[in-house]
Order: sequence, then C-alpha cells, then structure tokens
Amino acid sequence: TTDPLVIFTPSGKRGRFPVGTPVLTAARQLGVDLDSVCGGRGICSRCQVTPAFGDFPKHGITARPGALSDWNAVEQRYKDKRGLTEGRRLGCQATIQGDVVIDVPPESQVHKQVIRKAADARPITMDPATRACFVEVPEPDMHDPTGDLERLKQALKDQWQVADLRAGLPVLAKLQSALRKGNWQGTVALFQDHRGGPAQLLDIWPGFHDAGLYGLAIDLGSTTIAAHLCDLADGHVLASSGVMNPQIRFGEDLMSRVSYAMMNPGGAGEMTEAVRVALNGLIQTLTAEANIDPALIFETTFVCNPVMHHLLLGLDPVELGQAPFALATSDALTLPASALDLTTVNPSAQTYILPCIAGHVGADAAAVALAEQPHKSKDLVLVVDVGTNAEILLGNESRVLACSSPTGPAFEGAQISSGQRAAPGAIERIEIDPATKEPRFRIIGLDMWSDEDGFTEAAANTGITGICGSGIIEAVAEMRMAGLLDPSGLIGSAEQTGTERCIPEGRTHSYVIWDGSAEGGPLITVTQSDIRAIQLAKSALYAGARLLMDEMGVDHVDRVVLAGAFGAHISPKHAMVLGMIPDVPLDKVQSAGNAAGTGARIALCNAGARAEIEQVVRQITKVETAIEPRFQEHFVAANAIPHATDPFPQLSR
Ligand code: FES
Repeated sequence: TTDPLVIFTPSGKRGRFPVGTPVLTAARQLGVDLDSVCGGRGICSRCQVTPAFGDFPKHGITARPGALSDWNAVEQRYKDKRGLTEGRRLGCQATIQGDVVIDVPPESQVHKQVIRKAADARPITMDPATRACFVEVPEPDMHDPTGDLERLKQALKDQWQVADLRAGLPVLAKLQSALRKGNWQGTVALFQDHRGGPAQLLDIWPGFHDAGLYGLAIDLGSTTIAAHLCDLADGHVLASSGVMNPQIRFGEDLMSRVSYAMMNPGGAGEMTEAVRVALNGLIQTLTAEANIDPALIFETTFVCNPVMHHLLLGLDPVELGQAPFALATSDALTLPASALDLTTVNPSAQTYILPCIAGHVGADAAAVALAEQPHKSKDLVLVVDVGTNAEILLGNESRVLACSSPTGPAFEGAQISSGQRAAPGAIERIEIDPATKEPRFRIIGLDMWSDEDGFTEAAANTGITGICGSGIIEAVAEMRMAGLLDPSGLIGSAEQTGTERCIPEGRTHSYVIWDGSAEGGPLITVTQSDIRAIQLAKSALYAGARLLMDEMGVDHVDRVVLAGAFGAHISPKHAMVLGMIPDVPLDKVQSAGNAAGTGARIALCNAGARAEIEQVVRQITKVETAIEPRFQEHFVAANAIPHATDPFPQLSR
C-alpha cells in the first residue's frame, strides 16, 4: 500500500507521508510556508490549517473525514481554553491518516503578504529578521556546570536549528530569572542578520509569551522625519507620525548644514544630538499612540540622504560638501540601536540603514529603488522622487542609472511669495479659463471648487491661506496654457494678456489668483520671481533626467513614476506642460506616494529585501550632476516652458 497523499493549498505542493505524520512536519518537508512559534507544542496556534474533505477531481483524490487524526489532548485543551475557529486544526497536533487537501490560511503563513493601500502597489512579503521562538532549556545540575546561556544555545540548536547565538548584556541580565520563572521554558526574540552569522538574542520572557514584536521604518529627511510603527508578524502599520527635523535651525538645506559643520567645531555633533533627541521623541509619540510597550520595538530601519546619514551616525559630513563627495561608508549598516542613542526602544534593538548609492545619492534613493524596482522593469522607467533634492532613477532590467539634482525648496512651496506647506487652506488645484483668464481653484480641506455656490462661506473656516507645492506647479502650467506667460516664463501685462488680473509689480507683473484683502485675508498672487523659482527647480529636475537619458543613450522613456509625499500630489498633465518630466503619454505617468518610506517598510518587514537592495545598489551606475558639463547645458535649455529644444509631442494632442 502507498502512503497517503497530502496536497497543500494555495501553494499546490504535494507529497506522500506515512500515516501518523503531523501536518506541520509534512509542511516543513515540502517547504510549505506554515508558521510556528512554540515549535509544535500546541501552545502558539500559529500553525492553524483548514483541512478539506470530499472529492477533488482536480487533484485526483477523495479525502474522507477520517483523513486527519482525531483531536488529541493537547489540541483539545487548546480549543477548550483559547478557542479555535470552526474547521480549523492545529497543524502540529493533527496527523495524517489518509489522502487530504490542507489549506494554509494567510495568517498562518510566515511569508504572508501585506496588502498596500494603493490598488496598483505590490504587496510586501513578510520575512522579518526578528522572530519569536518558544524553547525548553535543560536545568543546570552539579555534574554539568554549564551557564544558562550555553544551555539555551544548545536548546535553540536542537529545537530551532539556530547554529550560533550571541547575547548582549541587557538580555543576559534578564536570562536567569526568566528561565527560572518560566520553569525552564521561555520565549526568545531572535534577530538573524540577512548576511548570516550568529543569531542575536534580543530578549527573553518566562514561559510562552505572545506580546508581539514591533519595528519602526523611519524616513529621515532634511525637513521632516516620518516614521511608521509596524507589527513584525504581519507588517500592519499601527501608527504613523512625523516631526520637523530639528537640524533646520542649523541650516535650511543640506549644504548649509554641511557648512555649519565646517565652520563650527563640534557643529556636526550638535546636529547629531538634535536629530537623535527628535527620533526618541517621535518613537515615544508612536508607541504611546499605538499603546505598545517601547521594549517591544526590536528593529528600526532608516532611509536618508547622505548628509542625514552621516549626521545620524555621528560622522562628520564635510567630505560630502566638496568633490569628489566621498562617503565615510556607502554600505548598508546593521548596528545596535543603542549605538545611535535610541533609548525609547528595546535595549537590544537592532538598526538597519539602507546602503547609499553615492555621495549625492543616498539611502533614500536606494529605498525608492527597492519600492519601485526599476531593476525588474521590462520597459524603461524614470522614477523621480521630488523633494528639496530630486532623486532620479532611470532603468530597466538590464541597467539602472541614478543621480540626484538640486531642485531647491520651491516645489515644497518655499521661496514662493504665497507659498506654504500642504495644509488646510492651501490652494492645491487650479484651472485658468483660456478665454476669460479667470481662475478657479480648490483648497486643501474643502471638497469644492472656488466658483461653486457657497464656496466663500465654506472656506471661511480654514481661510484661503496660500499655495502649496502642487498648487504652484498647476498655477504656472495653467498660466502658460492660458497665454499669461510666454515660453521664456515672462508674465504679460494687463494690455498684453487682456485681463486686469495681471497687475504691475515693480518692473514685472503678477497674476492675482485670490484677493481676500477686503475681508482682511491675503492677496494671493503668482509673481515673476515665483515663476523664476519654479523654472529653476523644474530645469534642475528635467536636466537630471535628461543627463541619465544621455548616459543611457535614449531620447525617450516608456513611463514615469512620480514619488515622494509631494510627488504623489502632482498632476501629471501640469508637470508635463511645465516640462518637469520628459514627454510620455499621460497614462504612463503614475504616482507612487512616499516610495522612500515604503522602501524603509519593505526593508523592515523582509530581511531578504535587504540583501536584494544591497545587490541592486552595487549594480546601479551613479551619475554625478555637479561635475557634468552637460548638466549645465540641459539645465539652461530646460528653463523655457516646456523646453527650448526638446519636443513634447504628447502636449500637442
Ligand atoms: Fe504552536 Fe502548533 S506550532 S500550536
């Protein structure tokens, strides 16, 4: 007689096993993804499966109700005490008695997928570096006077195939009491670095402990620091928050912070301390909001530009301020969080910092690559992460190029006369009628256009306060389309444009979008110098993209991804009218949201992704915009709207 056939769904993996084989054992042997924290002791219930009985013509078997063993005492006890959903069995207790089809529900998979909000976003596959294991440790005795840690090491080797183990002092200090309190049973949090090497013992609790393991994905920007608190079991984001980067008081932009470090002895140290204090505060906010014990934060991942990277690590950034822009190290780093003075996490927590691509292209760009995967794209994709610096990637599965371009803060509404952050009251959408030259707009926080009835009353709450980054891009593009601006970016006079909204301002003109001065509100205009600021920013962005296209030897790209918290809000049409991005069909322009933050989350949830991005970064060709003469040429040509020479055939459709 042959052994029973077991088929696992949804993987479709199948094999024959002797009668009496536990389902968990069969799954392990077939490489089916089935979770276990207690090592098959019927305690953790992570191994739940759903057996199916009946005829399965597709699989060529009939599964009879007796195909799995009856409930044993352990499984029955679990069910009575903690409850099990109807139809579910514990995979470690139920044994195979006959042909059967066994479904592994998503929550029982270690490598479960985290669904991301955007419909077209790829899910994140869970494969965290930190996991919990229940372990039974032999008691010490007079004849075998080994240490508790050595016996724990041996037990983890026997029960969990952990080849080697290291433990730091904070967890060593808890070890003895935890093992005794748990009557020689305990749950450990183990961190396994993706590069191999010994596992790190991060924490230990008496007996079986299921408090959860958490991590933080942190996007450390020069202006804001954003963090997500994630559950390391399923990738769920429990809380997200952001704070201003307190280094702003040492310098608005990156180069002024580098000069602060150059001019002031100890200046780099001050900035390091400031950002670390802010990080601890932000972490406290997140753990309080999610109601999570900070001691359960076991991992943090960071993405940041090279200057932020060095200042976070306490490294002097001065070399990043001058050619050839050498980094102290560009490799990814795994460090104890305590080395960064992160005190609001578990004392043994680990930190992973993504690799930098080059002295001007940081771990934030690497994170964008991890999230958007240009190295796996069949068609040629241009990924632009728009911020104070634009990170630009161009590539496909055969080659990826990267550069960064100094766009300045205009796209974030800074250095714009009526500019402001994206907040309620800010104009975010605008249309200008080409015939009447009259504008209509929407403000953040109000779901109506300014020419709809009742707008003024409805807007009275927030006020109409200014223009945010996406608003100014639309305003300039709409002004061009309505003929208020010539291709060189000059605003016409009232006589030239035929609208009283073009008012003189010194020797130039401004276009009035909203005059709230009668009610004591602001006069919101787009001035000539606003247009110039936007032209500089968009030229820098376009020139960076063009430089990469030259390097790649192409004159067009297949698709464009606009990334970044701000990039997500840009209207593709207006970006193209302005000539921010190369000409492509509009339906080939997607926005990816905060791709750097997503990259940080992927690296947090999936240790394999860390290996992947380290490999990808080694293969990315870095293009340095600062020393490339063609960058200047492209920059000058891109000053016109949309461009002095490059064709924009999609615009004429
Ligand atoms: Fe823990 Fe089955 S593996 S209950």
